[in-house]
Amino acid sequence: MRFLTAGESHGPQLTTIIEGVPSQLPLTAEDINEHLARRQKGYGRGRRMQIEKDQVQILSGVRHGKTTGAPITLVVENKDWTHWTKIMGAEPLTEEEEKEVKRKITRPRPGHADLNGAIKYRHRDMRNVLERSSARETTVRVAVGALAQVILRQFGIKLAGHVLEIGDVKAEQQPFTTVDALKEITESSEVRCMDEAAGEKMKAAIDDAKENGDSIGGIVEVIAENVPIGLGSFVHYDRKLDGKIGQAVLSINAFKGVEIGLGFEAARMKGSKVHDEIAYEENRGFYRSSNRLGGFEGGMTNGMPVVVHGAMKPIPTLYKPLKSVDIDSKEPFTASIERSDSCAVPAAAVVCEAAVAWELADAFLDKFGSDTMEDIHKAYEQYQEEARNF
Ligand SMILES: Cc1cc2nc3c(=O)[nH]c(=O)nc-3n(C[C@H](O)[C@H](O)[C@H](O)COP(=O)(O)O)c2cc1C
Repeated sequence: MRFLTAGESHGPQLTTIIEGVPSQLPLTAEDINEHLARRQKGYGRGRRMQIEKDQVQILSGVRHGKTTGAPITLVVENKDWTHWTKIMGAEPLTEEEEKEVKRKITRPRPGHADLNGAIKYRHRDMRNVLERSSARETTVRVAVGALAQVILRQFGIKLAGHVLEIGDVKAEQQPFTTVDALKEITESSEVRCMDEAAGEKMKAAIDDAKENGDSIGGIVEVIAENVPIGLGSFVHYDRKLDGKIGQAVLSINAFKGVEIGLGFEAARMKGSKVHDEIAYEENRGFYRSSNRLGGFEGGMTNGMPVVVHGAMKPIPTLYKPLKSVDIDSKEPFTASIERSDSCAVPAAAVVCEAAVAWELADAFLDKFGSDTMEDIHKAYEQYQEEARNF
């Protein structure tokens, strides 16, 4: 499968076209809206998320509740667009109108794409950069991830994205049992955290940052269960699934680190404490007695839950702005302020979940075929049977 996204933060809509989705997959707008709503929630979001009530429109590739195999077009409208039609319109402006266009941006915000993007594409109004580099784009990435999760769920593969750390507050982690059990707790937490006491401290840390015109980041975890052995491949660098997941996670706005399983911690430990021993049981087949490597060996899944961590830097737009330089006057100024969240880590957990879901679903179809769900089910069941009896 592949997908493209298009759309600006204050343009009329965000669009994605997804190609390569098998036919006969049951799919409704509700399957996607559920995840869009999850992305909009979370303690620390700014006013923009109160304006937007994201709802997807499915414009192609689905008929009477089932995919046809044709490209699927998904659209999410920006409600805020009605206030921005002049500023963001596609039609050319007269010289007079140009003078009237407000909200021109000439003071780049540190930590954003503003200055590099302006120099690269020779924009004197950095709104041309900001509008597309904004994390509003993650709305359709979540829509794409929701579709991926619909495919995966057909095979019992479920995912949960949740928050491990915000600022300097760490959740005390309970051993993983099932995705449903984890979500039961995290989905009702305002910071999407399994540790209630830490969750309260996280909210206090967000309040503190907000009061001081500052922002904070954090660490999220995505777990996927029931992943079969052998998604991805060791045979070539660009087919290693852990590598693809790494790229997908680092492509999320503000993500600066990614780990699989123990990640960086493994580098500080002895091999005997890192590698997962192999065990065997009749009917179950081969399995690992621990899961420190997060479900990956040799670029392939090993049948244990996939565990991915992503580190999000603090939001760059600060209400107490950092120093910057105006690109027209070259005078020092404090950076522009564009309406902003003070912490978006709980929402970012949903985005990260979507990114991992997409990579897993894509690798799944690579292994089991991609025309019709029926063929994929047959190939999957036969392989699972053979893997159990290997
Ligand atoms: C869900 C989510 C929401 C975000 N909201 C904001 C925001 O309100 N204000 C802001 O300045 N940055 C926000 N960001 C981060 C910026 O989009 C990001 O830092 C910026 O595009 C620069 O890219 P980079 O940090 O990956 O280099 C958000 C990121 C995510 C994942």
